[in-house]
Amino acid sequence: MKVQARDAIVEKILEFKKKRNAIILAHNYQRAEVQEIADITGDSLELSRAAAKTDNDVIVFCGVHFMAESAAILSPRKTVLLPEMSAGCPMADMVTVEGPRKTKREFYTDVLGFTFEFADEFTLRDIKKKHPGVPVVAYVNTSAAVKAESDICCTSSNVVKVIESLKEDTVICIPDRNLSAYAAKRTKKKIISWDGFCNVHMRLDADDVKKAKTAHPDALLVVHPECPPEVQDMADHITSTSGMLRYCKESPHQEFIIGTEEGLLHRLRKDSPAKKFHVLSTEMVCPNMKRTRLESVVRVLETMDNVISVADEVRVPAKRALDRMLGIV
Ligand code: 13P
Ligand code: SF4
Repeated sequence: MKVQARDAIVEKILEFKKKRNAIILAHNYQRAEVQEIADITGDSLELSRAAAKTDNDVIVFCGVHFMAESAAILSPRKTVLLPEMSAGCPMADMVTVEGPRKTKREFYTDVLGFTFEFADEFTLRDIKKKHPGVPVVAYVNTSAAVKAESDICCTSSNVVKVIESLKEDTVICIPDRNLSAYAAKRTKKKIISWDGFCNVHMRLDADDVKKAKTAHPDALLVVHPECPPEVQDMADHITSTSGMLRYCKESPHQEFIIGTEEGLLHRLRKDSPAKKFHVLSTEMVCPNMKRTRLESVVRVLETMDNVISVADEVRVPAKRALDRMLGIV
């Protein structure tokens, strides 16, 4: 986009933002130009907290569907807008309360283009029935309906604290098998894991790490807990997206290989302009996160379309699970 055209859109966004008394929240994976017009950028936990406490009438959520849904659950009196309705998260779709119509094997084949080893359980209700009394810890990357059927939520930055806060010795963690593997190494509790995954982080393997380390021998490797265990095991540090921002800024080290979605590199470079950052693989692009553009933001502010709302019978129990998480960390 030409600079003049971009400036005109940015001006319009600012004008509408004032008119609507809106706040713009953007996830760390958003396009650089979207991060630049946001009032707050952050990881899932920071954005949930911001959505819960804002005084603005309208929240424009530049991210994926489950994130805007969490904002709508936490702030029912606010109008929550998702600039691109088709921005979903395949991992969040991997667990349903009931159904799905397809087997998990069919689902993974259709949505992701490859088959995957799968557990016997088919739905959240099935796994709960199989393990009565075992609490369910739901990663925020889940639908409102799934949160409503869960005991507590977690994000990549607080999963271990959340598990430790529960009195039970065994917990069910949904939907990310890699986040479960990360947590299992950091708690003595038994974790029964769902076998979902992020199709972006799942592309990484030990070969990517070896190549990147050969190309950048002085760099530290920092990865997201959604990466496969073989990648986590080779990392110097594992943390959420905002955890990576803090770690790289505070570290005396000057060079880093980053194992997460490439959008994070914008903030990393902005926060630490003298340091060097390399993405672990050029395939680390989440197409859903990239759907949102400045044009989508100005359009929803103008039309007030794409409102995300959750019916009270789901919203109230889902809020309980989110509030329980926000209360302990
Ligand atoms: P963070 O909470 O670390 O920002 O992660 C969200 C996400 O979707 C990672 O793929
Ligand atoms: Fe979902 Fe993965 Fe995209 Fe995060 S990076 S929003 S987990 S698909």
